[in-house]
Amino acid sequence: MASVAVSNLSRHFGPVVALDDVSFTVGDGEFLTLLGPSGCGKSTTLSALAGLDRPTSGVIRIGDRVLFDGAAGVFVDAQFRNLGMMFQSYALWPHMTVAENLDFTLELRRIRGLEAKQRIEETLTLVDMEAYAARYPGELSGGQQQRVALARTLVYRPEILLLDEPLSNLDAKLRDRARIWLGELQKRTGVTTVYVTHDQTEALALSDRIIVMNQGRIAQVGTPKEIYDAPTDVFVADFVGASNLIKADLTIATDGTAQARLPTGDLLQLRTSLPRTPAGPVMLAIRPEKIVIDGSSGTGENRLNAEIVSRSYLGARNLLVVRIGDQRVRVETSEHIQTPSVSVRLPADAIGAYPAT
Ligand SMILES: Nc1ncnc2c1ncn2[C@@H]1O[C@H](COP(=O)(O)OP(=O)(O)O)[C@@H](O)[C@H]1O
Ligand SMILES: [Mg+2]
Repeated sequence: MASVAVSNLSRHFGPVVALDDVSFTVGDGEFLTLLGPSGCGKSTTLSALAGLDRPTSGVIRIGDRVLFDGAAGVFVDAQFRNLGMMFQSYALWPHMTVAENLDFTLELRRIRGLEAKQRIEETLTLVDMEAYAARYPGELSGGQQQRVALARTLVYRPEILLLDEPLSNLDAKLRDRARIWLGELQKRTGVTTVYVTHDQTEALALSDRIIVMNQGRIAQVGTPKEIYDAPTDVFVADFVGASNLIKADLTIATDGTAQARLPTGDLLQLRTSLPRTPAGPVMLAIRPEKIVIDGSSGTGENRLNAEIVSRSYLGARNLLVVRIGDQRVRVETSEHIQTPSVSVRLPADAIGAYPAT
């Protein structure tokens, strides 16, 4: 097992800056996720780690080995990196059985005989596919093929596992199951893992730490809880967990307390743990499930009257869209609201304030 250190990594494709001075580390045994929208540079980062693409500049170390150093002209070829990589479009060799698929990977690395046989058995057991060793890929379900593809990556015991959207071609229900299974497998093997996804649910559920990327740069690094509870900018607040974004004007009183005035004239108290945003135009961010529905209209801190625009029943929760002035705000609640308007409360410690851009 090993740790990874990426320093000042950049990748330019002509005028396109796919990666712009990205630095991060992955601890030994850690599950780290690169999360961000399509085109933000996740796959470029993973290809650089794997040695499938040569970055423009920067340094990549795994353990104490330098795999890439732009300035020194070092570039270790993919086949000498001992990393396991699995893409979204993994393809098993269709004319080989499950066991032969794994064996072929070992053959390429000159692992033969009893050693190869034992590893194949062990790895198929690890992914719960030992009963399918003699099947052909065409005789397996999508989820089973996925497991075999992962087994094929794990069978040669890579130092680092690199996974690029490995679950995105499974249907929703299978994806949930595969996600839980993958998380358990990673904990059991303890293999250092770098996982790429645009799916925040996957990232929050699986990761020890998440790196949120935006336009080739790192927007925020933190544990799932840190990223979700304290996003450092509007992009992260909106991308992870989809916040309501509300324009307001921030004032800081002489006693240091912060208030935000909405376009309706309503004044909201703010008590967040985020770094203090300077007074002036701001974007407030609040998550739909943090807003409290207060049946009785009334006064009190951060209570606003809201008109209900639409209701949808999501099974365990209800999603309401309400209107506060001109602003549409999403609210998630377990209550069944039947009235045309409600009083909502925006808890002072659940509102983030970010400089308006
Ligand atoms: N081979 C390439 N040639 C030109 N542009 C590329 C190439 N690979 C990636 N890019 C560009 O780099 C950016 C990042 O791409 P990528 O890392 O694949 O994003 P992600 O995996 O986050 O969706 C995108 O703008 C993409 O179009
Ligand atoms: Mg990609």
